Amino acid sequence: MIVTTKELFTQAYGKYAVGAYNINNLEQTIGLFRGNLGKAGSNDEPTNPAKSAPFIIQISRGARSYSDKRFLEALIRTAEDVFPEAIFAVHLDHGTEEVCYDCIESGFYSSVMIDASHESFEDNIAITRRVVERAHERGISVEAELGMLGGVEEDIEVSAEHACLTDPDQAVEFVERSGCDSLAVAIGTSHGAYKFTGNQGLHFDRIQAIQDLLPGFPLVMHGSSSVPKEWVERINAAGGQLPNTSGVPEKDYLPAAKLGVTKVNIDTDGRLVWCAIHREVFRDKPADFDLRTAGKPFMAAYAEFITKKNEALGSAGQLEAVRAALSGVNA
Ligand code: G3H
Ligand code: 13P
Ligand code: ZN
Repeated sequence: MIVTTKELFTQAYGKYAVGAYNINNLEQTIGLFRGNLGKAGSNDEPTNPAKSAPFIIQISRGARSYSDKRFLEALIRTAEDVFPEAIFAVHLDHGTEEVCYDCIESGFYSSVMIDASHESFEDNIAITRRVVERAHERGISVEAELGMLGGVEEDIEVSAEHACLTDPDQAVEFVERSGCDSLAVAIGTSHGAYKFTGNQGLHFDRIQAIQDLLPGFPLVMHGSSSVPKEWVERINAAGGQLPNTSGVPEKDYLPAAKLGVTKVNIDTDGRLVWCAIHREVFRDKPADFDLRTAGKPFMAAYAEFITKKNEALGSAGQLEAVRAALSGVNA
């Protein structure tokens, strides 16, 4: 069942984070739904309530043009039929103004992200405000971004690093004037597989300062992949050449969630799972050329990965409470 992002945030705020996972193709979509229902091996397995979670499917502009945006919509609609127990929202990831309007008009999306964080503060507010007006008319919520995520490298001076973090006072003004429903904040993370080379990590003091000024307002953490060593090692053991880096430690997800980080964006880790499984299959079965030989173990591994991620986010086991709350019954 597709629900609004707002409904999921209301249930999760301050207790756990909702995983927001990007999709690009069929296998990823099936693995995602299975994982959020605690079904490791097949669609037909019974749902495991202790491992089931509400979730957000994210579609980036790149994903929309990789195949055709209509394929993704059809995949999600079909998954909704195949997995009727699932409760999820559909979100545009890193939208431009034009793509936000396209998603809003489509009537398919629960929420859109307008990413005007590279614009000036005033322009970011003005652009976000325009998107908010169009989205709210259709009951769609809007995520905006303030502050700059970037490569947080050891050789960047602390002051430069801090200059990129979201300013708490600006965040209050931004939320008030733009009318956005959630805010992506720069709190030390960056996109991709190469996040931290040393002891950097989340700036909890900054998250706390933002929450103090915006209590109850959902914050979003982009660049939340943890770049697990296990997957990097498997990729490299199968011929890959990924450098030794790290991401956001999974143990940091829940403490961040308690401070209002209600949506945690994860894409890179899923790509690592895809890469490892496919490399291993090609290494171990050089005479095989059936795409299903890699597709099957990938769907299973991706499902297991999602279930584990949800455990770290605290969303695993929350699905029935969300269902009860949404149908007006006390959980
Ligand atoms: O933040 C970016 C997401 O990882 C989506 O990546 O634009 O390559 O689909 P993409
Ligand atoms: P990662 O690159 O850390 O997975 O972040 C994904 C993201 O923020 C999508 O918006
Ligand atoms: Zn992002």
